[in-house]
Amino acid sequence: MENKFKRTLITTALPYANGPVHIGHLAGVYVPADIYARYLRLKGEDVVMIGGSDEHGVPITLRARKEGITPQQVVDRYHAIIKDSLEKLGVSFDIYSRTTSDIHNETASEFFRHLYDKNEFTVKTSLQPYDETAGQFLADRYVTGTCPRCGNEHAYGDQCEACGSSLNATDLINPKSALSGAPVTMRETTHWYLPLDKWEGKLSHWILDGHKEWKSNVYGQCKSWIDGGLQPRAVSRDLDWGVPVPVEGAEGKVLYVWFDAPIGYISNTKELLPDSWEKWWKDPETRIINFIGKDNIVFHCIVFPAMLMAYGDGFQLPDNVPANEFLNLEGDKISTSRNWAVWLHEYLEELPGRQDTLRYVLTANAPETKDNDFTWADFQARNNNELVAILGNFVNRALVLTHKYFDGKVPAAGELTDTDTVMEEEVRKAVEALTEALDTFHFREGLKQAMEIARIGNRYLQETQPWAVAKTDMTRTATILNLAINLCANLAVAFEPFMPFMSARLAGMLHLDAMKWDELGKFDIIPAGTQLEKPELLFEKIEDETIQQQVQKLLDAKKANELAAWHPEPQAKDVDFETFELCDFRVGTVKECIKVPKADKLLKFTIDDGTPEGRTIVSGIAKFYKPEELVGTQVCYIANLPPRKLKGIVSEGMILSAVNADGSLTLIRPAAQATPGAKIG
Ligand code: 2FM
Ligand code: ZN
Repeated sequence: MENKFKRTLITTALPYANGPVHIGHLAGVYVPADIYARYLRLKGEDVVMIGGSDEHGVPITLRARKEGITPQQVVDRYHAIIKDSLEKLGVSFDIYSRTTSDIHNETASEFFRHLYDKNEFTVKTSLQPYDETAGQFLADRYVTGTCPRCGNEHAYGDQCEACGSSLNATDLINPKSALSGAPVTMRETTHWYLPLDKWEGKLSHWILDGHKEWKSNVYGQCKSWIDGGLQPRAVSRDLDWGVPVPVEGAEGKVLYVWFDAPIGYISNTKELLPDSWEKWWKDPETRIINFIGKDNIVFHCIVFPAMLMAYGDGFQLPDNVPANEFLNLEGDKISTSRNWAVWLHEYLEELPGRQDTLRYVLTANAPETKDNDFTWADFQARNNNELVAILGNFVNRALVLTHKYFDGKVPAAGELTDTDTVMEEEVRKAVEALTEALDTFHFREGLKQAMEIARIGNRYLQETQPWAVAKTDMTRTATILNLAINLCANLAVAFEPFMPFMSARLAGMLHLDAMKWDELGKFDIIPAGTQLEKPELLFEKIEDETIQQQVQKLLDAKKANELAAWHPEPQAKDVDFETFELCDFRVGTVKECIKVPKADKLLKFTIDDGTPEGRTIVSGIAKFYKPEELVGTQVCYIANLPPRKLKGIVSEGMILSAVNADGSLTLIRPAAQATPGAKIG
């Protein structure tokens, strides 16, 4: 694509440092941004890729409270994990910094102050939830109470996790402070607002008229926001964690995290390039691209641009915001709080050396136009059937054959046949489609086209059969392998943005020192006479066991989650003592216990209840106990229930068990041997 720009500034959404990053972050933001940055660098363009942790906001203060540490300790921990893991995945940031840095504090403060001095804010007083005991205002997340929609007693002021409703703190029934448990009161507070309505016309002109080429999900969201009419947005909060509002009379107030975070892109550029950062932000010949997930669209396309417009001074707006939809995991929404995620730092430890496989699978399944699903079965299949069987196999065959017939020295090509030129033409077509896809942020399609080059390679070897030709015609064999090795060089370049580790290893084997995008489609990249390194396998198969371990980990997480979300059932209505005394609880010894035929859940007990005849009780605990293990043990039961028939057996009582959080049952037993038939009371 012809480019009127001199340089490209790539920004990546700053992840909250309240937890590590997971595959959803990677697929949505970091992998596509890195593919794009690497692609532009291979084209020789001037590129800067900016990243960093978003270290302010309520989720961080909540995490700190939960763990009994300070917000600074929370962000120090997660910033280090995130930075290290993204680096290990090969995400090629020019800087990965953080919003608790001094330079960010100064930059964000100055930004606010500049707008304040220009009278770009309005001031408004409103009622906010307040905790009288703790003496502070409460962010919505700090308010809990009963959900007005489903009755869940543990809903938050912004959301009910039981029914998924979005709420306001004022919607909750009996709202309480999560800090002290005190009932919430409402108090007046004053905040600064950015009047987005003032910028509506300009935003509409810029996006709706000027950027019809944006992805339809992004354009569509912007259009519906603008069509709905923009409202002033509060840019400050009553909170003790964040960038203090830099004006007098604003004690106890900080910048709203969504005001300071995007300024982080500017502070991080400043930190990286103290002397030349301005040209990356204020020169119309700089192209700014924001990589984000769909939940960030309004902030990047409406709020931050309005802030930049209000600031003036030549700040440029993004040229494109290629936001992705969401990635799900095994059919369920990824969630940090529910631990339903594949965490990058754990992946790197548990599947060492497999960075490229993850990058490949996340790109092949990228949620570019709609939400998509990551499954471990698909991960294994793509690795084994595509990376090993197609890409790895072709490269390995080309290198092994060159070693076998030419001692690893690239032979000179002779005259080309039609098969050769057709193959070259196919590669050039795939390269063209690949380039077009990358230029337009269609990374899935780009990856498909890169893989197409490997498929062409396999077909070429299949057609030309150098191992058979070598028996009679070494000149022809030389030509085939020269082309096959050059096809490998094409693969090293074409895949570099997607799988940089594989690409570097392949380039090393080929002695391809400098990779350039404009060499793609050429077949003289590796000169005849080059001594190749011994081939190593580029990819290894992933065994079922590895996948099973990962699936089990998710199942364990689900279970732990259910336990964490469990609350004891509300207490039943009071009974009077006389009624209670009517219930006859007893201890008995199990004489016999067998499964009830054709009933999964039922066990038939013969109980020694102290009488010569004993009694029979049928109980629904077969899923949790083996009958033979119960013989000789003691159980508790209600003796005076009317007998009832279960699967044709008359049951004379009910065995007592506890119903656990996960629905399993635990038998209630005396702690020491009791007399069979003894009354419990
Ligand atoms: O959604 C998020 O995870 C935010 N922390 C993204 C911030 S992007 C930018 F504006 F810094
Ligand atoms: Zn609810």
